[in-house]
Amino acid sequence: MAAALLVAAGSGERLGAGRPKAFVELAGRPMLEWSLAALRAAGVTDIVVALPPGVPAPDGVRGVPGGATRSASVRAALAAVTADVVLVHDAARPLVTPDVFARVMDALADADCAIAAARMTDTVKQADASGRVTATLDRSRLWAIQTPQAFRRDVLTRALDVSDDVLAQATDDAWLVERAGGSVRVVETSPANFKVTTAHDLRVAEMLLRERC
Ligand code: CTP
Ligand code: MG
Repeated sequence: MAAALLVAAGSGERLGAGRPKAFVELAGRPMLEWSLAALRAAGVTDIVVALPPGVPAPDGVRGVPGGATRSASVRAALAAVTADVVLVHDAARPLVTPDVFARVMDALADADCAIAAARMTDTVKQADASGRVTATLDRSRLWAIQTPQAFRRDVLTRALDVSDDVLAQATDDAWLVERAGGSVRVVETSPANFKVTTAHDLRVAEMLLRERC
């Protein structure tokens, strides 16, 4: 059976709620509880949460102190599990649905790592520092990357065995696998599995989760 690492140790600067983002109230519960419920509904019970300093673990899960960067938090949580397959999920994605966990794990059959990803709907251009457009990218091949991300545990352990500088550059863990030469596969998911980053995102998430109740 797979283990899940739920990273919840961020401070939530951009949300600006005055407390760690994963513990902000969202549609009646702390934000991270939505992801915990989705994991449990997917049958995942071995869950380790990376926590901000001084915050206790929620009932029924193990907690570890998070790190200075997101991937450092993943590394800290990974040290606490022994399962062969590991799911990494951001507590900041409370709209995840249980099926997505199963789908990324299934996609591991022919990859070292499989990641939730939504097709781009905006046109994406590159510009130089002055704002002059230098390229328009082929949208049909672009994906907006989300979590969950599923890994074989040995692959993730090796990928995370890098300096703190490299860890700090990683905005997702799949990049560390790519960097180490591993194969990564996207699994198409809905843009509704967005990351709560700003106060606007929190309001949208609140409306969508209230609709579900
Ligand atoms: N995270 C973590 N440890 C860190 C930084 C981030 O566990 N040192 C987690 C966050 O709790 C979140 C996820 O990684 O669930 C995605 O990070 P992000 O959306 O950037 O959250 P924060 O870092 O909390 O927000 P901000 O960058 O605005 O401060
Ligand atoms: Mg952050």
